[in-house]
Amino acid sequence: MRGMRSAAKQPEPTKRAEATNLTQTLAMLWPYLWQFKYRVLLALLALIAAKAAVLLMPVALKYIVDALDTGQQPLLALPVALLLLYGGLRFAGVFFGEVRDALFGRVTEHAMRKLGLRVFQHLHSLELAFHLDRQTGGISRDIERGTNGLSFLMRFLMFNIAPTLFEILAVAVIFATLFSPLYSLVTVVAVGIYIFFTVVITEWRNKYTREANQADNTTNSRAIDSLLNYETVKYFNNEQYEAQTYDSFLAKWETARLKNRLSLLALNSGQALIIAAAITALMWLAADEVVQQKLTLGDLVMVNAYMIQLFLPLNFLGFVYREIRRALTDLENMLGLLKRQPQIVDAPDAKPLVLSAGAIRFDQVDFSYQPPRPILQQLSFDVAAGSKIAIVGASGAGKSTIARLLYRFYPLTGGRICIDGQDISTLTLDSLRRAIAIVPQDTVLFNSSIRDNIRYGRPDSSEAEIDQAIKLAHLAGFIASLPKGDATVVGERGLKVSGGEKQRIAIARAILKGSPILVFDEATSALDSASEQAILQAMRDVARNHTSVVIAHRLSTITDADTIMVLKNGQLAEQGSHQQLLAAAGEYARMWQLQQKQQH
Ligand SMILES: Nc1ncnc2c1ncn2[C@@H]1O[C@H](COP(=O)(O)OP(=O)(O)OP(=O)(O)O)[C@@H](O)[C@H]1O
Ligand SMILES: [Mg+2]
Repeated sequence: MRGMRSAAKQPEPTKRAEATNLTQTLAMLWPYLWQFKYRVLLALLALIAAKAAVLLMPVALKYIVDALDTGQQPLLALPVALLLLYGGLRFAGVFFGEVRDALFGRVTEHAMRKLGLRVFQHLHSLELAFHLDRQTGGISRDIERGTNGLSFLMRFLMFNIAPTLFEILAVAVIFATLFSPLYSLVTVVAVGIYIFFTVVITEWRNKYTREANQADNTTNSRAIDSLLNYETVKYFNNEQYEAQTYDSFLAKWETARLKNRLSLLALNSGQALIIAAAITALMWLAADEVVQQKLTLGDLVMVNAYMIQLFLPLNFLGFVYREIRRALTDLENMLGLLKRQPQIVDAPDAKPLVLSAGAIRFDQVDFSYQPPRPILQQLSFDVAAGSKIAIVGASGAGKSTIARLLYRFYPLTGGRICIDGQDISTLTLDSLRRAIAIVPQDTVLFNSSIRDNIRYGRPDSSEAEIDQAIKLAHLAGFIASLPKGDATVVGERGLKVSGGEKQRIAIARAILKGSPILVFDEATSALDSASEQAILQAMRDVARNHTSVVIAHRLSTITDADTIMVLKNGQLAEQGSHQQLLAAAGEYARMWQLQQKQQH
């Protein structure tokens, strides 16, 4: 999903937010570390072993040089033991580093898994409205970045920042004991200047880095958007136009990268200058003492080796500093998702639905998606248990909304909805939703096989039950005509099956769920008349003994309903059986005549 979201501007975290963020993050990380305390301890031991080996290397080097530096006398023997020790230390340094990574990898990965799962479950607990407002691509990027940020923080705080500080300290102590405190002073001051310079320049560079990343994101999402709309681009012969827009984004990206690279040049050359100055100063000091015969040549080499070794991890400091800041922001974004409270939850004293017959009652229901615009107003109606009710009305009248409210996707603005006399807002969501099977107006399928998509209605159903559902939904013929049968994969969002086939898969799925209340929202709108009649018959069979709500535009499909409700402007305009409504010669009768005329 990389690049799916367009340039979401990263908020600039303030210093204070960052501090609370860090403590919050550490508090959150702690249980994960604690859970693996022995492993973490072993990793720390490996880290210490690696650092010790690395710190001893320059010492070994010094003795090798001193052994070889015998003045005018001929060399007696190779310092074999020292050479082997030197090689051994070098190997140990790398080896223990790898051991540390291997040990700690499990800890970070487990934390990533736990946190990823927590966010995923949390997202499923959030209401529909939240998901309609957000871009799924953006959320998945937030999760991906957040978990990556977590692993980055865990690794770098423990194994980069802390050990590097320790190493600086160790070198300072070694210099002070072996030579003089002046050496330590030069080292510490140089490192201090280096860190200060890096932080300041990195802050200054931030805007260029962000610009470059943003340009990268927009370019990426532009390309994906264009390719997703492949068909639309072709329908309007707009390849040229698409290429131009894409190129204008690429051009911005190019300039942003240029600025970014120049600022990196400033950072890197400044760092190199500080390192060079520090090394020169120390070498000057040491060389002077070699001339005065206070130090050996080996000492000089050792000082040089320590300095190079010390600045090596500091080379990454700019990167690490920037990445830690970014990781904190990413984590904060993800934790922000976790902090969001679900709006639709079980009430504290929620009870499971006690289903007797499946009677539905809407009692003066008021509802609006966005406050000023009412969708349903004082809507009241009854669906007797086991009966079939049809809802008709103009597009946008609020028919699908009724189904969504029954499923408790949104809280009501006023009034209540009851099933068998129990207010649905006092029931557990799980028991409520188990009792209702919906064939939605727009079915979206998973990108898996037809059979798996149907099985989704009730994952533990038997193969025979699935076959039965396929038969009832009149899918058997279609499936038999496919080379791969019901193992055929339906493509992203089910785009590789026709609209009518998709609807029948959705019907089979709902049949399989086997709930006592059925809701069909335009479930046969995409079917030809012959298939529709066959399916309607099947739906009648299935709906026998069930309470069913059928939403339809084509009135001929609902003439057999026990009650037909005509919805207009969120209110009930008329209600009655087909014959009654025709006799009343109102809205329904007008709609009926219009549709009859069209058919002839
Ligand atoms: N999530 C939403 N946020 C805001 N408004 C919405 C939302 N969903 C639907 N609406 C609006 O609510 C009104 C009723 O929508 P609904 O889907 O219930 O209509 P409908 O009667 O099912 O229409 P159709 O016959 O076209 O399916 C519409 O005007 C629609 O624009
Ligand atoms: Mg609708």
